[in-house]
Amino acid sequence: MDASVLLALRDPAGIPFYPVVFQALYILTWALHAAFVLLALGSMGLSLYGTFKQKDDQRWKILTPHLIQTGKISVSLLIVLGVAPLLFTQVIYDPNWYTTNALSGMWIFIFIYALVVGYMMFYWFYYANKAKDGGGKMIGMISFAILVFAGILMHNFAVTSIMPNEWMNMYAPNGVVDNSGWTFNIDIIRLAFMVSLSLPVVGIFLQNYSRFVSTREDFSKDLIDYTASFGTRIASIGLLISAVLFVLWMYTIGYLMHPVIIATIAGVLVLLFMVMTNKNSYITTGVLVVVALLISGVRELIRYDLMMGLGYNIYDYPVNFEIPSITMFLLTFLIMGGVGVAYLLTMAWKVGKSQGIFDGSKDKAVNTLGNYTLGIMSLWMVVFFGWGMTILFSNIL
Ligand code: HEM
Repeated sequence: MDASVLLALRDPAGIPFYPVVFQALYILTWALHAAFVLLALGSMGLSLYGTFKQKDDQRWKILTPHLIQTGKISVSLLIVLGVAPLLFTQVIYDPNWYTTNALSGMWIFIFIYALVVGYMMFYWFYYANKAKDGGGKMIGMISFAILVFAGILMHNFAVTSIMPNEWMNMYAPNGVVDNSGWTFNIDIIRLAFMVSLSLPVVGIFLQNYSRFVSTREDFSKDLIDYTASFGTRIASIGLLISAVLFVLWMYTIGYLMHPVIIATIAGVLVLLFMVMTNKNSYITTGVLVVVALLISGVRELIRYDLMMGLGYNIYDYPVNFEIPSITMFLLTFLIMGGVGVAYLLTMAWKVGKSQGIFDGSKDKAVNTLGNYTLGIMSLWMVVFFGWGMTILFSNIL
């Protein structure tokens, strides 16, 4: 492909800050998106298994609704966290993202509706299971299948966006324009690798679950030991499967000996050792975060190299500094996001650790963080709207 076509598709206004910052934010936020995609798929899949065991096994009677709840919350988080990498990819790789959206337009529509229907059906499953142990199996399975399908579509968009050389053939196969929007591309090994990661993620989640509830007297020792060993088994088998698929994927695209890939494989081996010994699953989760960032980095490396080969270098993207907006973004992300997330996590942690009803108004840390969050959000709204109005009126009056 001629680089001038790609360069012409860039935003003529340029970008508001150094491209490398957007690239780093893309890697970070995609890893966050992926973490909840994998936890959602893993916990939903395992909760379906639980619905079959729930009636006769006391442990699954407790675990299944907890896994359904985990899946339910993770879907909402994966959607929220999907928006950030979407925005960053549009900033530095806009030709890729917008071309994909045109070529696969029908699939984009289908994706949105699939997500809405699949998620609503998961709520249906949640209520059916709450009403009756083992209830709503079929609805749960359909919902799970729809959400996996949404992931396959997401994969299609990611793969199509890194095939600029093929875009012309997709747009006009044999010279005849096809504007149906049905372009669909799949890279089976890459997809299988991505999906397989849900096994180690849910396995490590179970290890954490076991560790977390081990301080509670209302959880039996049997359940605590069972979740830890079951989690270890799933995570170990899952990691082995993912490692094989990763090596295969890297081998087929000729990246196996790249330092980032070697670092990723080393990270996976360390993770495997930590999962198998299960000394402290919270530290294992920290290593999992590093491996997730490395995998996100690998995805970006592939795309960066490919685009560089075509003469599209994101570091050459024209920069038109917009310091106030990047400052506002970073302050929102780091301060408002940081304090708000710390507040929610502290509360969730304390609710989970206490038996009976937890009264947040009597807890000092929760109260302080809650007040800070409210104060920062109020200030944020005043600045956001005040600033917007000032600019709007100074432009039109
Ligand atoms: C159930 C719903 C979803 C699932 C299972 C899912 C799964 C995935 C997977 C597997 C990938 C990696 C594809 C690959 O690299 O081959 C991906 C990438 C991505 N997802 Fe999602 N996703 C979902 C929903 C969303 C939503 C709602 C958004 C946005 C609001 C989103 C934004 C993204 C972005 C921006 C990428 C990266 C695309 C690229 O690099 O070109 N995802 N998702």
